[in-house]
Amino acid sequence: MFSLQRSAVLSALASYATLTHAATQQTCPTTDVCFAVGVPQQSASSGSGNIYFQIQGPTTYSWIALATGTRMADSNMFVMYQDGNGNVTISPRAGTNHQMPVLDTSSTAAKLTLLAGSGVVDGGKTMRANVACSNCNSWSGGGSMQLSSTSSPWIAAWKAGDSLATTDKDASISRHDDVGSWSYDLTKATIASDANPFVDAGGRSSSGPNGGGASGGGNGGGPDSTGPGVIPSSGAGGFQSAREEITRLQRAHGIIMALVFVVFYPVGSIVMPLLGKWMVHAAFQFFNFVLMWVGFGLGYVLSQKTFMNVASIQGFRETHTLFGAVIVCLMILQPIGGSLHHMYYVKHQRRGIVSHVHIWYGRILMLLGVINGGLGIELVRNGGGGGTGLIVAYSVIAGVIGLLYIAVKGFSSFRKRRGGDARGPGAVADRPARKEMSNAS
Ligand code: HEM
Ligand SMILES: *[C@@H]1O[C@H](CO)[C@@H](O)[C@H](O)[C@H]1NC(C)=O
Repeated sequence: MFSLQRSAVLSALASYATLTHAATQQTCPTTDVCFAVGVPQQSASSGSGNIYFQIQGPTTYSWIALATGTRMADSNMFVMYQDGNGNVTISPRAGTNHQMPVLDTSSTAAKLTLLAGSGVVDGGKTMRANVACSNCNSWSGGGSMQLSSTSSPWIAAWKAGDSLATTDKDASISRHDDVGSWSYDLTKATIASDANPFVDAGGRSSSGPNGGGASGGGNGGGPDSTGPGVIPSSGAGGFQSAREEITRLQRAHGIIMALVFVVFYPVGSIVMPLLGKWMVHAAFQFFNFVLMWVGFGLGYVLSQKTFMNVASIQGFRETHTLFGAVIVCLMILQPIGGSLHHMYYVKHQRRGIVSHVHIWYGRILMLLGVINGGLGIELVRNGGGGGTGLIVAYSVIAGVIGLLYIAVKGFSSFRKRRGGDARGPGAVADRPARKEMSNAS
């Protein structure tokens, strides 16, 4: 028992020693697709110059791509596929949002050079690109990367399928099966000389997750092959389950928010003139308010996982996430306004300005919430997460409830006006609860 523990500690120390010696940083966001990066000392200190990276995976993939950035849009992409002659093509592309990136032909395009050790290896089973990039510190679309950053964001994508077998750098590729994102501590990826770190002096592959050696590479995948400083977004190896988790979060967030904004809030508002019980209104809307925050929490976690709300200035790059956060925050005033209205009403037996504010503020926020739900569905739809059917169904339901809402409000204010005329002011005193309700809701 004791010796077992000690050997575990020793082997942990040994692997730590190997990793701290590591010249390159590497990660395998899925078991068989691996990437590595090395930054020459000189480039790190001057902030520009060559960096080296490696892309490797089985030839059962049609293409494998690595990119700098946090998401497709505005990233600097390097797409690798077989060239049909036993080697690989490496294609620099400028990331656009959720569409096929095309070859970057601008003057700021990444200058990539394929190096020794690249090619289709392992008897045709593996393809590998060892690449030098001379200008990857900044790129088309205004992106840039600090070569000495301790958390430099990288993304990747891969697609299983037939070999593209082309040297055309602008070949069409189809959408990825899966994607990954992580950050590298580039200060741990420093290499002494400005030379291909993925081969040894004799030109033999010296690194790479399947090559073992210099970078302390593991066994081609799994959590162990990611060194310190490599933070796979979802834990390497667990990528598939991370995707499933995102889908679950999307469903939970979407369903809760749609129920709250499209159904519950309007119903909570409609039932008032119908039931005339302010307590029911207040309790139900407060329940919805809490549920809305649960939905917001799920959305927040989701945005962290999908990089739609990465920390710092890049946060809230999607209208939906920004707009949603603003709406739920503005909603905080609604229970307060409701209480103020109620107190005012109890005292004066009529609506005050605060009542109108409560009513219209609530209506506007409900409407904005419904619209923002549509934007959210669009986001998922961009991601191929749902058909047009979803947005149609959502719009129809929202429309029907909207009409119902207007009809009930119109009817109750009509009834109230008529009732007021018929019964005179005394009627109000008879039924204060009902009067208040039709005002409050
Ligand atoms: C035909 C080419 C491509 C199409 C049509 C496409 C489309 C999409 C779509 C619809 C999404 C959102 C939903 C999802 O996760 O599936 C997405 C996300 C993503 N794609 Fe692509 N993509 C392409 C190529 C690439 C390439 C070459 C990379 C290279 C790294 C890449 C990296 C990513 C990443 C990291 C995400 C998640 C972050 C984000 O939403 O931007 N994609 N892509
Ligand atoms: C692939 O091309 C690179 C760059 O020209 C070269 O160094 C490498 O040896 C080639 N690989 C094979 C397997 O021919």
